[in-house]
Amino acid sequence: MAGHDHKPLVLVLVLMVIFDPSFSSAELQRFHHSTKNDESLSLLVIGDWGRNGNFNQSQVAAQMGRMGEELDIDFVISTGDNFYDNGLEGVDDKQFEDSFTNIYTAKSLQKQWYSVLGNHDYRGDAVAQLSPVLRKIDSRWLCMRSFIVDAQIVDFFFVDTTPFVFKYWDDPEDHHYDWRDVAPRHQYVADLVKDLDAALRESTAPWKVVVGHHPMRSISEHGDTPELLEQLLPILKANGVDLYLNGHDHCLEHISSTDSPIQYFTSGAGSKAWRGVYKQNADDLRFFYDGQGFMSLQVTKTDAKIMFYDVDGRRLYEWSMTKQLHPSM
Ligand SMILES: *[C@@H]1O[C@H](CO)[C@@H](O)[C@H](O)[C@H]1NC(C)=O
Repeated sequence: MAGHDHKPLVLVLVLMVIFDPSFSSAELQRFHHSTKNDESLSLLVIGDWGRNGNFNQSQVAAQMGRMGEELDIDFVISTGDNFYDNGLEGVDDKQFEDSFTNIYTAKSLQKQWYSVLGNHDYRGDAVAQLSPVLRKIDSRWLCMRSFIVDAQIVDFFFVDTTPFVFKYWDDPEDHHYDWRDVAPRHQYVADLVKDLDAALRESTAPWKVVVGHHPMRSISEHGDTPELLEQLLPILKANGVDLYLNGHDHCLEHISSTDSPIQYFTSGAGSKAWRGVYKQNADDLRFFYDGQGFMSLQVTKTDAKIMFYDVDGRRLYEWSMTKQLHPSM
């Protein structure tokens, strides 16, 4: 043991950190999730849900339980807007149990949930949703702003998209947004894009999936999010991202785009749905459903399969893709 010999090296490292301009922001927190023994993974994706079981939330939850069992899911992804209308009031807000713990009760759903924040979550105590106190109440819960789940054959990059969107910073309806630990916008978004770009670059997983609350492409009520197309999409394109999963628009949809191979999936139909709301856009719309439902994703090293289900658990749509393995894998 010659610990004292390392002092000059430590000093050099500290100086590198201080003077290297590329080292100005923290790395994204990383979690590990194992695949099944056969190196496959299956999971459910749900968005825009927490309404005390109302607006068919409970019916969707029951069908998730059924499909979760059938697919033997490994975990659940929430695309945000976890609690309506105004997020949680604090860590002791009963809505956490009334809209989450006591709704998603099926045995198959007693798995890890990985969640991002939606714009409605920012209207309450956003920091509360990130708190370990909630994990003590229900150990399934894990919500962070931006983070990575390394699931061996898939790297999932969860992105906090609400701060990108200008209108929330200057909301004409005068909603309160909890920008603690976020403001100022410019610095937050710049750091996040830089960290995400670095993490995407380093990723060697066969599949790269990005999850955010806001859609990049959508034909429903809210539609495309220009700030994401401008600031987030370029690094997704540059780093070979396969899928972008989001909520925010209360529908189920699959859109392909002419400008990259990225496939866009909206799963934002966990409770209230926007029936009859859609508009045209220039992208290739593969599927659109304006009722309630959810999505499943099944992945192996070479294959990905996505399915949408309605409030009765009926399969509405299926999409799959096969990838050639790189010889080095
Ligand atoms: C619940 O789902 C049923 C079946 O799709 C639908 O007829 C009904 O309108 C839904 N209720 C709400 C409140 O959206």
